[in-house]
Amino acid sequence: MGRLDDQVALITGGEGSVGMATARAFIHEGCRVALAGISSDGLAAARRELGDEVALFTRTDVTDPASVKAAVSEAVSRWGRLDVIFSNAGIAGVIAPVASYPDDEFDRVMAVHVRGSFLTCKYSLAAMPDGGRIIINSSVVGLTSDAGISAYATAKHALVGLMRTLAKEVAHRSIRVNTIHPGPIDNDFQHAIEVAATGAPADRAAEVFNEMIPLRRHATPEEIAAAVLFLAGPESSFMTGTTLVVDGGMSV
Ligand SMILES: NC(=O)c1ccc[n+]([C@@H]2O[C@H](COP(=O)([O-])OP(=O)(O)OC[C@H]3O[C@@H](n4cnc5c(N)ncnc54)[C@H](O)[C@@H]3O)[C@@H](O)[C@H]2O)c1
Repeated sequence: MGRLDDQVALITGGEGSVGMATARAFIHEGCRVALAGISSDGLAAARRELGDEVALFTRTDVTDPASVKAAVSEAVSRWGRLDVIFSNAGIAGVIAPVASYPDDEFDRVMAVHVRGSFLTCKYSLAAMPDGGRIIINSSVVGLTSDAGISAYATAKHALVGLMRTLAKEVAHRSIRVNTIHPGPIDNDFQHAIEVAATGAPADRAAEVFNEMIPLRRHATPEEIAAAVLFLAGPESSFMTGTTLVVDGGMSV
């Protein structure tokens, strides 16, 4: 018996590092997964790995309502419903102080995270039976912040507001809504941020970040997927409206 036997999940940014780790974990627990992401090459690679039997791959721009609706309807026509949503698509934006942060870049980061998660939740809810679960991927900097990341940290904080609002709106249907707050993950997304923030090569930049993490290392994508699986599964049945921190102690 898997924890998610015969269930259906939609994962945005599903072709990325955390998205794929979560897709693998969900499939291992008996779930079928619809991966919605903007990278055609990434989706093609995901398809080669996961195959068509338990997974579906839809090119989706989460900032575009028509595109989100199309991804939801494709999953629903194939499997009839969505039990779990993992709103996970994200971009880092540039690193710059507020005084010189580019306006259009700020808008782009807000659009992918905030508008994207809003649209994903909005257009998935009609396909979600009572008892569904929504997990939104925020960040440790959805609860703290650092210089240079105004757009990203503002967007990640905003996701907590979306989560808390939605948790209250859908609780009467026993739908649970939570955010996760990962610390630095050992993947390309984070390495690019670290190089931009420190100006050092990737391995030295990673060491600088390790020094800020009490556990002295980055998370693996699988450790983040395990937290998402926990919030999607029956073990978290009395958790809604909460912020689950998975950051090696970075925010303490
Ligand atoms: N990597 C980290 O250290 C870290 C830490 C905390 C939170 N996060 C968050 O985890 C999530 C996943 O990031 P990741 O580390 O797997 O990086 P990633 O770049 O591998 O994954 C991000 C995914 O989002 C997709 N995406 C970007 N814009 C999109 C759009 N407009 N529509 C649909 N899909 C789009 C990308 O194609 C990619 O597949 C992001 O929300 C990120 O902010 C990452």
